[in-house]
Amino acid sequence: MHRLIRLFSTSIGRKLVLAVTGLMLLGFLLGHMLGNMTLLQGPEAINSYAAWLQGHPALWFMRSGLALVFGIHVYVAIALALENRSARPIRYATSPTYQTSWASRYMVFSGLLVLAFVVYHLLHFTFGVVSLESYGALDSAGRHDVYAMVVNSFRNPWICSSYVVAMNLIGLHLLHGTRSLFQTVGINHDSYNSTIRIASLVLVAIFVIGNCSLPILVFTGVIGLSGG
Ligand code: HEM
Repeated sequence: MHRLIRLFSTSIGRKLVLAVTGLMLLGFLLGHMLGNMTLLQGPEAINSYAAWLQGHPALWFMRSGLALVFGIHVYVAIALALENRSARPIRYATSPTYQTSWASRYMVFSGLLVLAFVVYHLLHFTFGVVSLESYGALDSAGRHDVYAMVVNSFRNPWICSSYVVAMNLIGLHLLHGTRSLFQTVGINHDSYNSTIRIASLVLVAIFVIGNCSLPILVFTGVIGLSGG
């Protein structure tokens, strides 16, 4: 325990915490995406899935765990960024970033945009503040009509485009995050760096295309209120 606390007080320890919590959040995102994909199967599939999730005995345990992991990830990321800044009090006269990518330089910035999206998203689908008229309806089986809520929302061009933009920004954050995760755990060698790059790109492409497909399919009318 003492060793663990000592590890977390070092910069590499904090990077490790960032990597582990980032991996957990990535797991949540992929699971959440797969769950959302039930929208493609129609109202019965997504409404029963949502009802199962809402009635799950471990729901609040999972929610608290997710909030804790997310909070630690944000806190450690900001602490590390501030540390890096103060370790380099004299800023470079020219940009030091010919090797560092755009995503790397703006990791904290893109992370804060992800945070803003999560707040917006919770206000939207969990609290019904963004589009009140499509929130709170029940289906014929008396369950929360998640299908109607999502379809009614994504028919709105502003909501649809805000999700498409957000998914791409989150994708950018994930792309750099997954690559630096390997560096943090010491997997960084010329012979497999290109494999890591391709694997990260494929994973993030699945996330972005999968998540963007839902608002786009609704907006273009492929998924409709009659059930797709
Ligand atoms: C097109 C993409 C997405 C769709 C259609 C979607 C849909 C939904 C819906 C319908 C809910 C509410 C479920 C319910 O109340 O029954 C929800 C909850 C949530 N979503 Fe998403 N989501 C998307 C992307 C994301 C992303 C990218 C994140 C994180 C960055 C995220 C994080 C969450 C969280 C934290 C909750 C709350 C879970 C809870 O209530 O316990 N979602 N989402």
